[in-house]
Amino acid sequence: MQTEVLLPSGEGIARAATLLQSGALVAFPTETVYGLGGDASQDGAVAKIYAAKGRPSHNPLIVHVPDLLAAEHVADVSDAARLLARAFWPGPLTLVLPVKAGATIASDLRAGLPTVAVRVPAHPVAQALLRACGRPLAAPSANPSGRISPTQAVHVLDGLSGRIAAVLDGGDCAVGLESTIVGFPEGRATLLRPGGLAAGQIAQVLAEGGFSADLATDTTPAAVSAPGQLASHYAPRAAVVLNATRRPEGALWLGFGPESAGADLSLSQTADVEEAAHNLFAMLRTLDAQTVPGQTIAVAPIPEQGLGQAVNDRLRRAAAPRG
Ligand code: TXA
Ligand code: MG
Repeated sequence: MQTEVLLPSGEGIARAATLLQSGALVAFPTETVYGLGGDASQDGAVAKIYAAKGRPSHNPLIVHVPDLLAAEHVADVSDAARLLARAFWPGPLTLVLPVKAGATIASDLRAGLPTVAVRVPAHPVAQALLRACGRPLAAPSANPSGRISPTQAVHVLDGLSGRIAAVLDGGDCAVGLESTIVGFPEGRATLLRPGGLAAGQIAQVLAEGGFSADLATDTTPAAVSAPGQLASHYAPRAAVVLNATRRPEGALWLGFGPESAGADLSLSQTADVEEAAHNLFAMLRTLDAQTVPGQTIAVAPIPEQGLGQAVNDRLRRAAAPRG
């Protein structure tokens, strides 16, 4: 199959919607990363997503909807979840909620769980596409399973060209890291994956609303409970080492802040964690393409504050032993 590259015009979005309604896969931009979209209500479309990504079937997908009202058609939204939805949707927050009885969501998408992950993306192209389709879209990040997530249409083509019907080119993703995932096991808001919305902001809204929460920052791979969050993920071809305060012999060096002035690339010369989040995946790709076999990518230390928590989560997985 020849993957079509569609412009984010009215015509391009209409074409993407027609393809999706027919059960084909279309990658589209969100403010976090590009998603690999398929009609969440069609078993066949969901099966194609797992096949195109090479994704293990025990790893459930996120359902994308245009707004809270549409979310209430697929999930039971508790008071605490509604508070977060009102504060942060549309935006880089995914809520794991009990699936609504009778919701027309392909069961394989949930990998057998009684819950469904729901997200309302803010990107105008994603919003226009969801409204043009008129149905929820399943969309994992649009990369082969285990590899670096795409923040540009060309990254999607690098990994999935010929395996999906089309990609809608909406330019560079503003946030650059996947959404933050919050679930409610035993009714208590719990951080399942750090991401593009800082956990501190979520904790503040919950506290103001009088809800208890467990948004602790232990996000070592073993401690995170979203299924399918494999230890090795976001992996470039080259090996990755962390906390490099100088360039290791023979390595390429990805810097952060003024201390790493001699680095090959810098996630943020001014030590801004949001800028680092925006640059992380694209810079890992750029350096990976520059390495020679056996050469390592060494990354400077990133503070654990704000989006630094999610940047470090992705970096730990990029550096984890490969399966
Ligand atoms: O920003 C994002 O979230 C992007 C864009 C495209 O929206 N999507 C994304 O999807 O990152 P994906 O498939 O790469 O990551 C989905 C994560 C997985 O770690 C999965 O285990 C978790 O969501 N997840 C999905 N359903 C779940 C559920 N019912 N319970 C717990 N975790 C769930
Ligand atoms: Mg992913």
